[in-house]
Amino acid sequence: MDRTRLLALVSVMTLAGASHATGEQRLKASDDVSAEAFFKNIQVLKGVPSSKLIGAMNFMAASLGVRCEHCHVTTETGNWPMEKDDKKAKRTAREMIAMVREINRANFNGRDEVTCATCHHGKVKPSTRPPLWSASAAAAESAVAPLEPGAPLPKLDEVLAKYRAAIGGEEAFSKLHSRELKGSIERAGAPPQSFVIEQLAPDKYRATFSLPDGSFTRGFDGRSGWNSMGKGASPMEAGELAETRLQADFRRDLDLPKEFDTFVVTGRVKVEERAAIEAIGRGPGGKRARIDFDAETGLVLRRTDETETLFGWIPVETSYSDYRIVDGVRFPFTVRKVSSRGEEIRRFSQVRNNLEIDPKIFAMPAQKGS
Ligand code: HEC
Ligand code: HEC
Repeated sequence: MDRTRLLALVSVMTLAGASHATGEQRLKASDDVSAEAFFKNIQVLKGVPSSKLIGAMNFMAASLGVRCEHCHVTTETGNWPMEKDDKKAKRTAREMIAMVREINRANFNGRDEVTCATCHHGKVKPSTRPPLWSASAAAAESAVAPLEPGAPLPKLDEVLAKYRAAIGGEEAFSKLHSRELKGSIERAGAPPQSFVIEQLAPDKYRATFSLPDGSFTRGFDGRSGWNSMGKGASPMEAGELAETRLQADFRRDLDLPKEFDTFVVTGRVKVEERAAIEAIGRGPGGKRARIDFDAETGLVLRRTDETETLFGWIPVETSYSDYRIVDGVRFPFTVRKVSSRGEEIRRFSQVRNNLEIDPKIFAMPAQKGS
């Protein structure tokens, strides 16, 4: 992501979290404040909690394979006027929301069986033709086909015990108190971007990404999270904070079930030619993760995280490979993440443990010059 994109995104995020109420009675987006009370120009999403609006926007963008600016007016300086209706796509989207609601009401007892994704499938203009056969689609289909449907499944405790042992176990983890990870991120059509992640047990985290003209840093001090692009810093919004809190947990992999309310083994699947045991975890705030453990090595091969929005679930798939042992802990040196926005490959070049890291670096930097 280049700097302008990032700036735009961050300002959209800030704006999305900024109420038009001023002064003392500034509202916060929440489950109790309606979208129309919080935002400026809500016509079809009236009555929806304001906290759910951005998730619904993400779902529409992902379903059509577009970014916010496909429907929203942009400006050079950030602070986009999202309430404006100048773009035809935004006005069409309103009609589409009403249409989808009507389809589900009239045909599916109000269940969300049809979503924007059903017709759009990642494209602005839905196809009226059946798809041609494609090698990759056929491969993807066979990759999710369940293996040995009747065979008994291992117990969750067995799967987790095997996984914990495979990554080094309690013993190896208990010897570590800090970690520094260096590597680069590759995205199609962009030069690789280097990053450094610093972690201090139990839950301090800072990641610095170098951009062509500066750097972008995100941090978590055990309680609050922040983003910084050189000039001061801003606090993370709730969703990002929850995500970062998980990342910051030094023992996250060892305590995998901790992030879920329920976690069950659901089947045997094939993940790129490897036999795997699949388990599904459900967590707070409409989160669901499908995790595929290598049946032989016990390691996590793939994890599909899904976030529930007003209109449906948004998936992100992460694959782990090139596991190597550093100080007794096995770590995936290649992590591939695919979302509706594209593919991102993180290659780690160096993992160093137990360095002295100053805890102060995890605190949010003070605002400069304001
Ligand atoms: C497919 C079109 C579409 C896309 C893509 C889209 N939006 Fe929207 N957005 C809308 C529509 C339609 C509304 C108005 C909803 C209503 O009238 O109830 C809206 C309203 C909003 C509002 C409320 C503005 C106000 O004050 O009234 C915000 C904020 C917003 N969108 C943010 C975003 C963000 C951030 C993204 C990118 C993640 C995004 N939108 C992507 C169609 C879209
Ligand atoms: C039943 C199928 C169907 C569903 C479901 C559906 N759409 Fe569409 N959508 C279409 C078709 C077909 C077109 C193209 C119409 C045309 O070209 O005149 C379209 C066009 C659009 C366009 C205009 C495309 C452009 O040029 O920007 C937008 C925006 C859009 N849809 C948004 C949505 C959103 C958001 C949802 C979910 C709330 C949704 N659609 C759900 C069938 C669907």
